[in-house]
Amino acid sequence: MTPRDEILSLLRHGVAGPGEVDPPHGNGRPALALAPMATITHAGFRTLVHEYGGCDLYFTEMISAEALIGGTPFEDHYRSLAPAPARTIYQIIGYTHDTIAEAASRLAREPCAGIDVNMGCSAPQLVRKGAGVAWMYVPDASARLIGELREKLPDKTLSVKLRLGRRDDPDALLAIALRLQEAGVDFITLHPKRQKEGSARVARWKYVDLLKRELTVPIIGNGGIMDWTSYLSRRGTEDDPRANALMIGRGAVRAPWLFAYLRGREAGRQEMEIDLSQVVARFLSLLEEHQPQQFWPSRARRVYPYLFRNVLFGHSPGARLADTRDYDEGRRLVSEYFDAHPERRRHIERG
Ligand SMILES: Cc1cc2nc3c(=O)[nH]c(=O)nc-3n(C[C@H](O)[C@H](O)[C@H](O)COP(=O)(O)O)c2cc1C
Repeated sequence: MTPRDEILSLLRHGVAGPGEVDPPHGNGRPALALAPMATITHAGFRTLVHEYGGCDLYFTEMISAEALIGGTPFEDHYRSLAPAPARTIYQIIGYTHDTIAEAASRLAREPCAGIDVNMGCSAPQLVRKGAGVAWMYVPDASARLIGELREKLPDKTLSVKLRLGRRDDPDALLAIALRLQEAGVDFITLHPKRQKEGSARVARWKYVDLLKRELTVPIIGNGGIMDWTSYLSRRGTEDDPRANALMIGRGAVRAPWLFAYLRGREAGRQEMEIDLSQVVARFLSLLEEHQPQQFWPSRARRVYPYLFRNVLFGHSPGARLADTRDYDEGRRLVSEYFDAHPERRRHIERG
């Protein structure tokens, strides 16, 4: 089986439930995927998630095609597939057909599971120049790109991550998704928000349902899974899952143990106890192991506020840590905080 076959089987058949050896054909539980998140889902963070039990599919942070081809000094760090290469998909963002095709060819030489093209990023400075969600507005060019990548990457999964586009327009969404399916994508991830909607807006999962109903390729639904309750509402029933896989972003930054907790809860375990000071210490040590030193301050500052959401009255220390540009100072503040409030180290995941 190629990595592509394995991932497609995982998406089509689902994963085994508690006590099952093999998933029942076509009736497995949706796989769980870690979302691509720039500055967060580097190899160190993915390893942290993996150490808690991990998920079924990992996405790298988006890799700029132009920077990769231009020879970034940090290329090796972006290429790292730790800790689970055969379950890790590189996500590429780029401005042109040729740069994305070239970056995909180079990355596909690594033992990754596949290549995902970012057609959903809405950062205005990238969209203006034709990257991310801008690809959704040029269906001919997108289909041509996917068609060429399909020929070049027979053994790797080829996928795209989409948003809704400029408006709620089911016909337009369906039209582009069908074009991409026809052009050869293996699966599509949908984060159902409009281009200009930020993180406070609720993702419209009815569009995940729409793609699942109308397309033949597997669909990964993404948006707003933060805990058990929000997971349940998006998972659907065992007999009728809403998507072939569920992708989790911010929920996994707040709780790198979330995937393990969700699986444990499905198996009947109600709670999971976490020592937050140990989580921070392990995160920093993996960050140091897997990322260049220049990245430590920015990557640590990105994650602190999420982890501190688990702490009673954690907003203010989280915000302060997000502002602390000195890496060692941040590390010192965290350890002083937990020394001063030892009872706040303990977090019980139950919601
Ligand atoms: C800090 C951050 C960075 C992100 N970077 C990327 C990225 O590199 N590529 C991408 O497709 N989406 C990116 N996203 C979007 C997420 O993959 C995901 O679609 C979004 O957070 C919604 O999922 P959630 O509600 O589970 O967080 C990013 C989101 C965040 C919060």
